[in-house]
Amino acid sequence: MLSNQTKTVGVLGAGTMGAGIATVMARAGHRTILYDLSEANLQRGIGTVHGFFDKSVKLGKLDATAGQGAKDALTGTTDVAELAPCDVVVEAVFEDLALKKDLFHRLDEVVSQSTLFHTNTSTLSVTGIASGSRLPERVVGTHYCNPAPLMKLVEVADGRHTADWAHKATIEFLGSLGKTSVVTKDRPGFIVNRFLIPWENSCIRALEAGVATKEAIDAAVLGSLGHPMGPFRLLDIVGMDIHQQVAMRLYEQLRDPRFYPPPMVERMVAAGDLGRKTGRGFYEYDDTRLFGS
Ligand SMILES: NC(=O)c1ccc[n+]([C@@H]2O[C@H](COP(=O)([O-])OP(=O)(O)OC[C@H]3O[C@@H](n4cnc5c(N)ncnc54)[C@H](O)[C@@H]3O)[C@@H](O)[C@H]2O)c1
Repeated sequence: MLSNQTKTVGVLGAGTMGAGIATVMARAGHRTILYDLSEANLQRGIGTVHGFFDKSVKLGKLDATAGQGAKDALTGTTDVAELAPCDVVVEAVFEDLALKKDLFHRLDEVVSQSTLFHTNTSTLSVTGIASGSRLPERVVGTHYCNPAPLMKLVEVADGRHTADWAHKATIEFLGSLGKTSVVTKDRPGFIVNRFLIPWENSCIRALEAGVATKEAIDAAVLGSLGHPMGPFRLLDIVGMDIHQQVAMRLYEQLRDPRFYPPPMVERMVAAGDLGRKTGRGFYEYDDTRLFGS
């Protein structure tokens, strides 16, 4: 079983979610290998993880030795072969079925047969992604909430061929990371995005309609619903490109107009105002780390 031991964990994709998930793994003491296509993406992801630990030390949430240990636990690579020692791989690459399948197909040749394959897909079928592997029984959907280092929930979705051992090992592993697992069926949007995406869209529509400023809407949500951040701060972390893609994919599958992204989303994506990662979304940022502590 995977818990209570130091593991080697591969995180595929060094973007918003990959950097967040790598932070979770390194903080838990696992040897963490972050993989991306380009050195530039990798360095940005690693910089975000280091920045998170540095800030945690500065804020007194982590002692300096633990902070350094977590930073040292993380390495990066652009070579898939270096993922060979992984006990678990968590893929967080672009939301593209062919890409995710191909990555799992290639990993089959690299890692051991007992390595768990986790996918962080938001809208694709876990069964479909698992079909890329010769061993679909090892593939489990683990949908982390953003920002992954701060949010406890992980939705766990088995594919059609997921084995009982893989499901159990996944729940145990997530528990050892301090995460709360909620089991859901392999369905578009799992649980959370079924209501989060329409809700975010309705906040954007309220802004478009001039009901209130973004600051006022964020403050109203903070003060009334008990959310840790308002919708526009959250969307800036999620990324408007990702919100647009997830919303569109869910609209196409569920045919419910509440999922359809409002026009402001397309304008922001066209302008490159994607959120924190580009320095400007609903708000402006000097610090373009992918998430904060
Ligand atoms: N952003 C969110 O709030 C959120 C939340 C939960 C789940 N997700 C899901 O997580 C996944 C990643 O989303 P994100 O927001 O981190 O995207 P992102 O665009 O920030 O990052 C994706 C990263 O994957 C890398 N990549 C692409 N193809 C690759 C390949 N073949 N090999 C290695 N790396 C590759 C890219 O270079 C990029 O760095 C998607 O499946 C998305 O649906 C996103």
